[in-house]
Amino acid sequence: MSAPTTAGQRWTLRGTHTEYTVTVPAHGRWLELVAWGPHGVSDGPSPVAYDGPVPFLTTGDAAPIEYATDADRPFTGADLVVETPAGQRRVGFGHTDVLADADQRELAVGFADPVTGLRATVHYRVPVGTDVVQRWVELTNAGTGPLRVVRAGSAGFCVPTPHGALLSHQWGQWAQEFQLSHVELGHGTFSIGSTQGVPGHLHVPWLAVRDTAEPAGPTWGVALAWTGSWEISAERDTGGLTRLRVGRQLVDGPLELAPGDRLTLPVVTGAYSPDGLDGLARVWHTHQRLLAGTRLTPRPVLYNSWEATYFAVEAESQLALAKIAADLGVETFVVDDGWFVGRGDDTAGLGDWTPDPAKFPAGFDAFIAEVRGLGLNFGLWVEPECVNPRSRLYAEHPDWVYAVDGRPLTPVRNQYLLDLGRPEVADFVHSTVDGLLRRYDIDYLKWDFNRPRTEPGRPGGVAPLDLDGAHVANLHRIYERLRRDHPGVLIEACAGGGARTDLAMAARADVFWPSDNTGPLDRLAIQHGFLHANAPHLLSSWVTDAPGLFDQRPRTLAFRFVLAMAGVLGIGADIRAWTPAQRSEAAGWIARYKEIRDVVTHGEAYLIGGPDQARCAVQYVAPDERRVVVLAWHTGRLDGAGSLPARPVRLPLRGLDPAARYRHGDQHYSGSHLSAVGLPVQWSPTHDADLIVLHRD
Ligand code: GLA
Repeated sequence: MSAPTTAGQRWTLRGTHTEYTVTVPAHGRWLELVAWGPHGVSDGPSPVAYDGPVPFLTTGDAAPIEYATDADRPFTGADLVVETPAGQRRVGFGHTDVLADADQRELAVGFADPVTGLRATVHYRVPVGTDVVQRWVELTNAGTGPLRVVRAGSAGFCVPTPHGALLSHQWGQWAQEFQLSHVELGHGTFSIGSTQGVPGHLHVPWLAVRDTAEPAGPTWGVALAWTGSWEISAERDTGGLTRLRVGRQLVDGPLELAPGDRLTLPVVTGAYSPDGLDGLARVWHTHQRLLAGTRLTPRPVLYNSWEATYFAVEAESQLALAKIAADLGVETFVVDDGWFVGRGDDTAGLGDWTPDPAKFPAGFDAFIAEVRGLGLNFGLWVEPECVNPRSRLYAEHPDWVYAVDGRPLTPVRNQYLLDLGRPEVADFVHSTVDGLLRRYDIDYLKWDFNRPRTEPGRPGGVAPLDLDGAHVANLHRIYERLRRDHPGVLIEACAGGGARTDLAMAARADVFWPSDNTGPLDRLAIQHGFLHANAPHLLSSWVTDAPGLFDQRPRTLAFRFVLAMAGVLGIGADIRAWTPAQRSEAAGWIARYKEIRDVVTHGEAYLIGGPDQARCAVQYVAPDERRVVVLAWHTGRLDGAGSLPARPVRLPLRGLDPAARYRHGDQHYSGSHLSAVGLPVQWSPTHDADLIVLHRD
């Protein structure tokens, strides 16, 4: 379908509880937002329209434009900047076409520039059963001369913040990812991003915005599906509108668009909830569960031997761990780094993906068979995009790594990065992993990535190249192909912890490893942030012996278990050293997890309080509402508690039927009591976490 737009034409996209309405103004040069919010929000006056003149600016600088070129918004920030070979900018669109308009769920509007021939199609899609809107743009050079894309945003989102913008974002570093922070933005710009060729540890491609006057009220969010370099900015203008720009960051320089070339920019998803940040989290969870499709199943309880043996992997110690793990009720045994030839530490071996015969003298097959003989599934760690200079692969293919001619390579963790955009490298990476999955009996793969890209080049200096785009595209293709050819294998995405979590990976991996920090109180803060942007089925978490890096206050084994049960439970401790009492306690927790993991996977999650508050819990309500699972943690000091008179902490539960009755042991509560007064939890030095399952009568 293709029909010219008419002045003032409007389209409303409808989600389960939300709507998103756009219009083409009479001049026909761009799309404008009319309203984004609950059903009915588009009926009255537009909450984002501006009133009055715009002296010393252009109309476009103040208008709530959906996708703006630098001709549309010359001063206040464009989503798209394109130039001709002569360096001339200000590509602007003069003609619009409706290309698709289906069931209030999909819309595509085409724009054309009469001068250069550039075409842009602005796409919208609201997936059934969600309150998100997916947006992306397709650029086509339909002209006769080459063009250069200087800025390649995917979308602009306009949010009404008349009293000030309250932004929520997640920052971090290695071992301290997903730190949830809030910033009040009066006027000006806030921006986050990554230039690392990977979403990175420093910021998460996710942002939430509320009006400062209503922090628990309407909340809008954006998240990007791009596994490379990215940027998100929020700018609040003098009129109180906050405009978010989201998209790729072109770290390799402008993208060349030859005549006939087409470029599809990554999907950015917008989300809306009337219920603050916590409500917005549930909108993201619903969306990600949908992305997982039929793969949304309760994940197996796994054991990973990394923190128990590090690089000293060999059959005997692994089997000793596997035997104990099987007795505890673990279902999948994962051998982490250190299993392949030359890998005694992190200085050598990456690239040579052959099991080390010295470590598995009876053969790797026999080792896996022994693990399976214990009733366990088998998982393996790989990092196929990286290479150590001390490896056979590097000796044979030194030209396969990113490099700038004549300049030294920058090692990070003693390793270089393979240029996955090259077809022969993509073949190598695919066939390495595919080969392992075919050759050995493997059910679970942990795919790691332990360094960012430093060198913006390829030997021989062929330029300009979109290295970032080519790497990401091939990574996604390989994941898709592996999932298609090995549907029974679960894939855990890891990048030195949580540096590779974005919506594109949420659609291609089954679970994320959010951080290498497994210390209990540090992990609590990491998981709290993570669950604001990601659904529990994506949250891999291990019970270990680690004290933590930032907050080393001791916590019980129960605390560690209840914490890891908030997502996908795993064990990473050296369980050989656990006492019989610890092992029997662990077996009890694992059995309880198996009873509740369907609710964790499919239930509505409510985030109560936080790691720096007196109350900290996650509540999951089963889809049939018969069970409510509450995981709660004591965040404060433990000394003194329990030895003096004390009253319980009250956890205000949400999403319950006020008239319903709920039972926990011989305690009975009404839904309204649990919401208004709260679920009581009494902490003591030996009781610093709890798992409570409420059954509805
Ligand atoms: C990264 C991962 C860890 C572990 C090591 C192995 O740091 O995040 O979980 O797999 O690599 O070298």
